[in-house]
Amino acid sequence: MSNGIPPRFDLPIPDRADIITDNVLKLAEATPNPRLRFIFQTLIKHLHGFVNETDLTTEEWMAAIQFLTRVGQTHTSFRPEMNTLSSVLGVSALVDALNNPVEGNATESTLLGPFYTDDTAHIANGEGIASEGKGEYMYVEGQVVTTEGVPIPGAIIDTWESDSDGFYDMQFSNRSHPDCRGRLQCANDGSFGFRAVVPAPYPIPGDGPVSELLLAMNRHNMRPSHLHIMVEAPGYHKLVTAFFPEGCKYIQSDSVFGIKKSLIVKLEHIDDEGETRKRGFPAGASFELMRLRIVMLTNEQFKSYRAKNAESKRTA
Ligand SMILES: [Fe+2]
Repeated sequence: MSNGIPPRFDLPIPDRADIITDNVLKLAEATPNPRLRFIFQTLIKHLHGFVNETDLTTEEWMAAIQFLTRVGQTHTSFRPEMNTLSSVLGVSALVDALNNPVEGNATESTLLGPFYTDDTAHIANGEGIASEGKGEYMYVEGQVVTTEGVPIPGAIIDTWESDSDGFYDMQFSNRSHPDCRGRLQCANDGSFGFRAVVPAPYPIPGDGPVSELLLAMNRHNMRPSHLHIMVEAPGYHKLVTAFFPEGCKYIQSDSVFGIKKSLIVKLEHIDDEGETRKRGFPAGASFELMRLRIVMLTNEQFKSYRAKNAESKRTA
């Protein structure tokens, strides 16, 4: 059924490669929304440029269509293959980097990833997020502050991590309750602490079309070990980030490009009994300590940095 939009003008008959590109661009000019028009025109330019530059064969183009079809067919809410494709091509990290420019001493953001869920354990400051047997003990403690170092009272922290085998609780079909994830409120002086486990490196799915793409490029599919943290406080820009313990063998080859230098942290091994007891671990246990200082931007700071970044791109 025709959508009823009449032709705006007669286009040259597209009997040459360059006329095809010109005609598609000309039609995109009619897009009423200026931002959408710019996105369509740029997409067409780059897409046609890619086909021209690679002199794409019909077989290669068909293989690409079939690949994208399989990515779509594999995608479910539990297995977000489209997102994984975006991630392994670095597009997700690039969008995050452009939208969250590095500014001053603010804590840098990184990818949310597919394992965030609102179905989490609400814990008190100082309690634990992991059940017994999930891995080597880790205690995470720190403070949430402004760029001037002033404590932000009562910020809400969401945190989630893999267990010591590299699995998130959501990956277990018999999941009955949240594990290795929790939500807590910082104290009035911005301080927070919680018991956790040392996270492990883990693979992104190794059995779908995206993993075939990685194999074709001779790339591994591992992510360095990390602890996800999301922080919200009224008046402040929501921070989605993660911290990566130093020393993981995948730290310099994150398969989804989500790591940043400022997010690598050193764990400190603590076996002092007083310290262990103070943090609620069993007697005789030792633990790794992750110390964090989380610096948040106000909404106004974020807006002005983002505008400055967009402006410098326009004038570059
Ligand atoms: Fe993760």
